Amino acid sequence: MTDDLRLSIAADLERARARTVLLTDAVDDDDLTRQHSPLMSPLVWDLAHVGNQEELWLVRDVGGRDPLRQDIDELYDAFKHSRRDRPGLPLLDPAEARAYTAQVRDKVFDVLDRTRFGPESRLLDGGFAFGMIVQHEQQHDETMLATHQLRAGAPVLTAPPPPRARQAVSGEVLIEAGRFTMGTDTEPWALDNERPAHPVDVPAFWIDTALITNGDYLAFMDAGGYDDPRWWSERGWAHRQSSGLEAPLHWIRDSGGWLHRRFGRVTPVAPDEPVVHVCYFEAEAYAAWAGKRLPTEAEWEKAARWDPSAGRSRRYPWGDDPPEARHANLGQRHLGPAPAGAYPDGASPQGVHQLIGDVWEWTSSGFHGYPGFAAFPYREYSEVFFGGDYRVLRGGSFGTDTAACRGTFRNWDHPIRRQIFSGFRCARDA
Ligand SMILES: [Fe+2]
Repeated sequence: MTDDLRLSIAADLERARARTVLLTDAVDDDDLTRQHSPLMSPLVWDLAHVGNQEELWLVRDVGGRDPLRQDIDELYDAFKHSRRDRPGLPLLDPAEARAYTAQVRDKVFDVLDRTRFGPESRLLDGGFAFGMIVQHEQQHDETMLATHQLRAGAPVLTAPPPPRARQAVSGEVLIEAGRFTMGTDTEPWALDNERPAHPVDVPAFWIDTALITNGDYLAFMDAGGYDDPRWWSERGWAHRQSSGLEAPLHWIRDSGGWLHRRFGRVTPVAPDEPVVHVCYFEAEAYAAWAGKRLPTEAEWEKAARWDPSAGRSRRYPWGDDPPEARHANLGQRHLGPAPAGAYPDGASPQGVHQLIGDVWEWTSSGFHGYPGFAAFPYREYSEVFFGGDYRVLRGGSFGTDTAACRGTFRNWDHPIRRQIFSGFRCARDA
């Protein structure tokens, strides 16, 4: 058992690192050290930060080894320097950052060989500390992918297009009223904010079977949605006015319609693909215009995990098996979301499609701890963000790895953010 776990952890660590290398080797040293947006770190900061967190948790804490580079801890502490300020720090240069992360990884494989995984240590039970570091690197890889999307210049990333629709998907389904289990006690790599499992009573509601598409969103734009304060919340309208929002981020108006720039390539907006790079306020306004609303976080999770015939919550919409390529558009296999109906094997028992993968879905819920929440392994993971100006996003995107995505996984961001791979679906009261 422990040997199998060791092998699967090693494979997860290597998959994360291959992706980090792909994202950082794709550009030259100037692009690595430059800041492509004040919202983002220079890529070389992410690279060394990934290595530094791995050193702190796996080399020093789990392995009990001497520090490699204690002198740089402060530079790569995300709580000490905002993203905006990171380019001004005396950071490791690209060659130093690559050498450092590789040295850390060598030591980690040695620690992994000697580690016993058992319930006597909560940090090691089920390989948790290693899982936390795998997820951390993959989350930074998704952030680096978003930095690539913000970068100007010729395209450097390539991937095959996502699959086409295999089934027509439209309309909504009714999720009956009743109690379901939200969160988890059993996912070995679940983070503190996903715990504990707890019952939630959810009134009956309707939820869209498909994500809102570019075509749907264009109808809102063509109907003057951006210019009609009726559809916007007070804060949303103030933000729309002050920021001059008139289309999703990366859209370009063209004489014949709308184009969008995606990883350096400009193409016409495809009407059947999920809309992406919208902020919470835009999603909220669209939903109001459509006579609906955004789902709460509990509604989203019930739609994704509740199996009415078995009367229990499952790990994913399709069941308990880990995600495969046929289930969901995850892991940066493609550089954009897939049209509705592209993943019928990943649908929920009630016929809700693409809850996992494609785009992060805005929910109407703020970020709070579940009843009985306990910070682990440190308060800065989640607890310091509770109650802040955030909305929860669910389900992962095409840029989220399988290791950092499950039915219980919670992401959060400010309601004005849209550099992330964010979209939405609508719900309404029954
Ligand atoms: Fe981090």
